[in-house]
Amino acid sequence: MKVFRYKKELENHLKELKKQGKTIGFVPTMGALHQGHLALVKNALKDNDITVVSIFVNPTQFDNPDDLEKYPRTFETDLTLLEDLSPDIIVFYPDAQDFYDGNIVSQTFDFDGLEQEMEGKHRPGHFDGVGTVVKKLFEIVQPDKAYFGEKDFQQLQIIKKLVEKEQMPIEIIPIPIYREEDGLAMSSRNRRLTKHHRAAALFIYQVLKQSRVLFKKESIDTVKNFVKDAIGAHPYLELEYFEIADEKTLKPVTQKISGNKYRGFIVVYAGEIRLIDNISLVES
Ligand code: PAF
Repeated sequence: MKVFRYKKELENHLKELKKQGKTIGFVPTMGALHQGHLALVKNALKDNDITVVSIFVNPTQFDNPDDLEKYPRTFETDLTLLEDLSPDIIVFYPDAQDFYDGNIVSQTFDFDGLEQEMEGKHRPGHFDGVGTVVKKLFEIVQPDKAYFGEKDFQQLQIIKKLVEKEQMPIEIIPIPIYREEDGLAMSSRNRRLTKHHRAAALFIYQVLKQSRVLFKKESIDTVKNFVKDAIGAHPYLELEYFEIADEKTLKPVTQKISGNKYRGFIVVYAGEIRLIDNISLVES
């Protein structure tokens, strides 16, 4: 399997492949790969001639230095998992100084307000960091298609906005949330949960599913209060926020309008681990 550390080398290699008319699928990751990531990679392998996976714990998107330091790094295992899917996958494992030309800072973006909701409020600067790294990755890889999980639904909408605003000819492919057998959304952070917190974490999806049932007949406030009370009563979980928002604008919803699509977005602390999840509230 080919692993590139320096952007020029990867660019040159991909240029040659593009000259041969190959299509490129791209899966950006921060490593610590799990089945959720592998589902994205499998889709990329299926749809494209060449699949590129980046593994980079991007410092500019962490608002909390402790989270950056403790973010799991399992590069050798990641390579084995990818190799098992296909030895032809190209891995980009950037050197941070080379990637950022020695200046590890974020650009500031205007994503038409998408960046100001939910995660934008709770993690200042996060989406500037995500926008910066993804834009740079897209410029280097120049994929035909790029794959993003719906677990980070706000991020997905922001990436769609990024390619629209930057006029990048890249198709963004959303992939549904991949869950553990008990319903917990897969995340690299799950491996840092203690035994008690891991057992408690499955409650998050149970509550989300109940909120979807309630949403059909109850008011928005009733649904929100239900989630707040249910998580609030759990001894091992702490709710950071639960929001019901329009899927497109990500603006909080106060009244349901028939035909619009809504989602419930939740962030919960299980001990010191911040878990994020969401659920579609209207059948499409
Ligand atoms: O979702 C992630 O893992 C990251 O935010 C991404 C898109 C790889 C950018 O660093």
